[in-house]
Amino acid sequence: MPKSTVTFMCSECGGESLRWAGQCPHCQAWNTLQEFQVRKSGPGRKQAGAALAPIRSRPVPLSEIESEAAPRRSLAWGELNRVLGGGVVPGSVVLVGGEPGVGKSTLLMHAAQQVAAKGGRVLYASGEESPQQVRMRAARLGPLSPGILLLAETDLDAICEAIRAEAPQLAIIDSIQTVTDAGFEGGAGSVTQVRESAARFMRLAKDIGVPIFLVGHVTKEGAIAGPRVLEHIVDTVLYLEGDRRQELRILRAMKNRFGSAEEIGVFAMGEAGLQEVPDPSAALLADAAGGASQGTAVVVVLEGTRPLLIEVQSLVNKIETNYPPRRIASGIDINRLHMIIAVLEKRASAQLGKSDIFVNVAGGIRITEPAADLGLALSIYSNTRNRPLPGGLVVIGELGLAGEVRRVGQLDRRLHEAARHGLTRALIPAGAKAGRPAGLEVIEVRSLADAIAAAFPSLMKSGAFIREAEASVT
Ligand code: TYD
Ligand code: MG
Repeated sequence: MPKSTVTFMCSECGGESLRWAGQCPHCQAWNTLQEFQVRKSGPGRKQAGAALAPIRSRPVPLSEIESEAAPRRSLAWGELNRVLGGGVVPGSVVLVGGEPGVGKSTLLMHAAQQVAAKGGRVLYASGEESPQQVRMRAARLGPLSPGILLLAETDLDAICEAIRAEAPQLAIIDSIQTVTDAGFEGGAGSVTQVRESAARFMRLAKDIGVPIFLVGHVTKEGAIAGPRVLEHIVDTVLYLEGDRRQELRILRAMKNRFGSAEEIGVFAMGEAGLQEVPDPSAALLADAAGGASQGTAVVVVLEGTRPLLIEVQSLVNKIETNYPPRRIASGIDINRLHMIIAVLEKRASAQLGKSDIFVNVAGGIRITEPAADLGLALSIYSNTRNRPLPGGLVVIGELGLAGEVRRVGQLDRRLHEAARHGLTRALIPAGAKAGRPAGLEVIEVRSLADAIAAAFPSLMKSGAFIREAEASVT
């Protein structure tokens, strides 16, 4: 039986299926499977495999392999270098994904200007915007450099030819979803086109040693193939995230063959494009409401190797109607919030069943780490008691279902970051080994109840609380 040359690929997750179905069997998304043409192997391939073909590679002892073949090219921004793993590697293909309007083109134009400023040449292939639009944006970001060559083209062959001919220090394709290979059916943005183009850029980059950045839009509709379809092909995948209405943008490494895939770079979008933010904790705390107010808590989350001080806010609102209460979370996984609410009800006797609960993370950051659990729990609890958490407090710890406070990784780093930014007290999981930075009073807590007792001291000794209240009246 001849091998099928058509398979189906999900435009969301890149999973392959032999048959079409309404729902992707890999990621369960609906209506995302698209026909994917597999190029038939031509006669040239057979010859390469023939017995007489010269042996091209031989086994080499591991110890004889040179450590780093390619020197990296550093960009002006430390934040960008960090996410790339120390700079741009010649011959690498980097995918920069993100939602439309988040700032991908802006980020890459900055990178282009930084390479050009050092005398390098950059080829910027734009299929998204007209040359005038690209010029207008570039002029907002900095002086227009003759080192940046603009190519208004969407044909894959033409773009590859131009890159070969110019041999620039950096090539940028904005975006991969507008590039089409005339040898394939299917419009721009189809799975076949996107994958085939990326694979060709990959071969070209390796062949001539030019680093290529690809822009990839993330789409919810699945009408065009998203960057996930390409994740397996390219060397490095970076996602630019952030709330469009807010300043901060986070560039997150999701995959990196040349460095850690845990790192983030932080930027701020302003009038003249992006700026790097080398001390994000300071920016995030400045963004916070400031001072102790009810329902806010400061937590430390670790992003790659760097700790970030972030303020979480919550609002608990009693409802009179019989509608189910609303739980709305921005910047925190909603299921995590449900769990924390359940633990608060069961282990701290908080009455939350008849209240709407809203949670927000300052700066438009998305918290993915459970180390923020305890802080969030205390922030919600503070609402139910109508009292703020003490000023200068940072809360660190994961919350277990039994109400126990679990240890978190890299506590030392987190405490130092808190001390460096002038916080004075920290609640941490009991038994965790960590130094005590100067100026920071560290309180170990075993359980949610412990943490509540430490954060709201007079509430637990109810007699004392009443006496305190009486004293303040008289
Ligand atoms: P853009 O880089 O075009 O986004 P993408 O390529 O990811 O679609 O960024 C567009 C947004 O950035 C737009 O909403 C306007 C904003 N922006 C600024 O706020 N300041 C600037 O200097 C620039 C160039 C863009
Ligand atoms: Mg763009």
